[in-house]
Amino acid sequence: MAKAYKPEQWNLIRRGAPKTHVAVELGTYCGLWAGSLLRECPDVQELYCIDRFNNPRTWRLWRAAVAPHRDRVTALPMELEIAEKLWESTIKEQIDILYVDADHHFASVLHDLEFWVPWVRQGGLILCHDWQWSGPRGAIGRYFGEHNVNVASFGPRAFCETAWIRKP
Ligand SMILES: C[S@@+](CC[C@H](N)C(=O)[O-])C[C@H]1O[C@@H](n2cnc3c(N)ncnc32)[C@H](O)[C@@H]1O
Repeated sequence: MAKAYKPEQWNLIRRGAPKTHVAVELGTYCGLWAGSLLRECPDVQELYCIDRFNNPRTWRLWRAAVAPHRDRVTALPMELEIAEKLWESTIKEQIDILYVDADHHFASVLHDLEFWVPWVRQGGLILCHDWQWSGPRGAIGRYFGEHNVNVASFGPRAFCETAWIRKP
């Protein structure tokens, strides 16, 4: 979860992605990051939050977290696999900020990157949470290493580190 984001880190995101219209969060849980992004980045016009929302409590907390920004957020309450099909067939939007924070196993993160990064516009931001863990770190290294792209990060080293990549 994104509870460790500090004001200067939101500053980095705001400065790094000016005029952001579309953001996508893979794995939104109780909406902590979603609510913060909508509050801290007023340029975001549409945030899509994808999660299986597999218990009523999570769904209730998520709705409360984003309630002040209801007109700028869309929940996609489904498996990521289904959301991918919906994106390809119907939504088809270019993404300005992609936040990867669903299943943290190497293969899942790699799959998320392979599907979603091509939808991120040139110059858009890709953020991957929990980069200190081997799954996200390995997948980010594999995917962006193959594309020769620099990876930066912010956040405490041992906890809640976020990888930060600008799509070339
Ligand atoms: C670490 S939590 C997300 C935390 C959230 N981004 C935040 O910062 O507050 C991971 C979420 O990913 C969701 N998730 C994991 N794999 C998924 C999948 N295949 N399809 C849909 N949701 C998934 C889980 O239900 C869980 O709520």
